[in-house]
Amino acid sequence: MVRNSVLDIQNKKGKEPITCIAAYTSPIAKMIDEYVDIILVGDSLGMTVYGMKNTLGVTLDMMINHGKAVVNSTKKSLIIVDMPFGVYEKSKEQALENCNKVINETGCDAVKLEVTKDLIPTIEFLTKNNINVVSHVGLIPQHVKELGGFKIQGRDEESAKEILDTAIGSQKAGAFAIVIEGVIETLATKITNSVDIPTIGIGASPNCDGQVLVIDDILGIKQEYSPQFVKQYANLSDEIKRAVKNFTNDVKTKKFPTKKHCFF
Ligand code: KIV
Repeated sequence: MVRNSVLDIQNKKGKEPITCIAAYTSPIAKMIDEYVDIILVGDSLGMTVYGMKNTLGVTLDMMINHGKAVVNSTKKSLIIVDMPFGVYEKSKEQALENCNKVINETGCDAVKLEVTKDLIPTIEFLTKNNINVVSHVGLIPQHVKELGGFKIQGRDEESAKEILDTAIGSQKAGAFAIVIEGVIETLATKITNSVDIPTIGIGASPNCDGQVLVIDDILGIKQEYSPQFVKQYANLSDEIKRAVKNFTNDVKTKKFPTKKHCFF
């Protein structure tokens, strides 16, 4: 099986919606590989896997370990790994060194950076140095403190213009796709119509070129907070609780193990 390339993903714009799931572990990556175009090893793993309150404490080593697991467990999807907070903002050189580290150590196809307008020169430097970059704009979780919390962006003209300019600037700087998170519908539509590269939305309306959701959210593995934009397709929290409760009950009442689980 041939892995989707950056070009394959770009060619879908205007032809078919792109699907992307944020996932982080080998068994899940193996299960979902054939059903999605892209797997994003997102820094949302800080919350879903490591129990953090936000993504600010996620490290480069965490991203590399999970990136490796997902790349090694898949054959078809394009694999994008998130650059975590604190490893690309200081200078272009710092960004290049750490992006190269992630790509070389995981074998992923591309990296994603959360982008404000001052980071556009860094995107340009990375793409000129042959790094495949996805730009993440809008409600960017690594900037949750400056944004005053997880609030939908683009409601006022000034912030909408800044996000649009950042998206257009990202394309000019060579990004091959844009993730748009948590913005009002009109802004997501305007960005999608203003750039030639695909936009992948999360809480950004159906008018983007594709959609991304976090695997735990669609499977119903409950987090403390579930955003309004999530659609849940299963209820694994209840299934997991039921299975473990039944196991404990069986052990306590000596119904497990039975003869068929023993060695003679
Ligand atoms: O970290 C992540 O999972 C993400 C997606 C939600 C876009 O960045």
